[in-house]
Amino acid sequence: MVEHDALSATREAYDAAAPTYARLFRDTLRDSPLDRAILGAFAEAVRASGDGQVADLGCGPGPVTAYLDELGLAAFGVDASPVMIKLARQAYPDLRFDVGSMAALNIADGVLGGVLSRWSIIHTPPKELPIILAEFHRVLAPGGHLLVGFSASDDPSHPTQVFDHTVAPAYRWWPDHLAAMLRKSGLAEVARMVREPQPTDRRQFQEIQLLARKA
Ligand SMILES: C[S@@+](CC[C@H](N)C(=O)[O-])C[C@H]1O[C@@H](n2cnc3c(N)ncnc32)[C@H](O)[C@@H]1O
Repeated sequence: MVEHDALSATREAYDAAAPTYARLFRDTLRDSPLDRAILGAFAEAVRASGDGQVADLGCGPGPVTAYLDELGLAAFGVDASPVMIKLARQAYPDLRFDVGSMAALNIADGVLGGVLSRWSIIHTPPKELPIILAEFHRVLAPGGHLLVGFSASDDPSHPTQVFDHTVAPAYRWWPDHLAAMLRKSGLAEVARMVREPQPTDRRQFQEIQLLARKA
């Protein structure tokens, strides 16, 4: 079981932050060609491996779920924060958004063509992450793809580092360490995109988006 405390704290923090977060990140992809590129590659990979439904897990207020829909995927969003889900439903009334936990998804085994998790695993205490990776593996169909986004640790001897996220306690990961955990969960790395920190970024961390495939 994922500790109730960490998930409750994350949920409460995002409930409180949701209106501001939704306003700040509504157009998150507009100025980010790299994000659009990797999401486009993810969409093509999903289509090529059977075109099943895609879950955007930890979807926040939903703009990325909506972008997946624009790319032609059958996308829906799940988030632990009921306020985030309310805002997502208001902004994108034609799409499906469910309240739920990544550690215990209300999704049948092996039904999804894709799972997207953009900066949603960062709030999971490291010892609990294997539970969530096992859920990603469980809900994906054979050949299905995972795209996971996270902030990189900069010290391989400390594969996880706590960082000062504005909303809730968060952890960054040494990318090879996370790739090895995915492999252990049955999700083999296909590719990864590394975005170097830019002078205007508030946090000077590499951002990683790792594409993996269920055998
Ligand atoms: C940093 S925001 C990212 C939102 C969105 N994926 C994006 O790219 O803008 C993290 C989101 O993940 C959700 N989240 C964190 N841990 C979760 C969990 N265990 N289950 C479901 N949602 C979770 C939070 O409520 C929050 O909306």
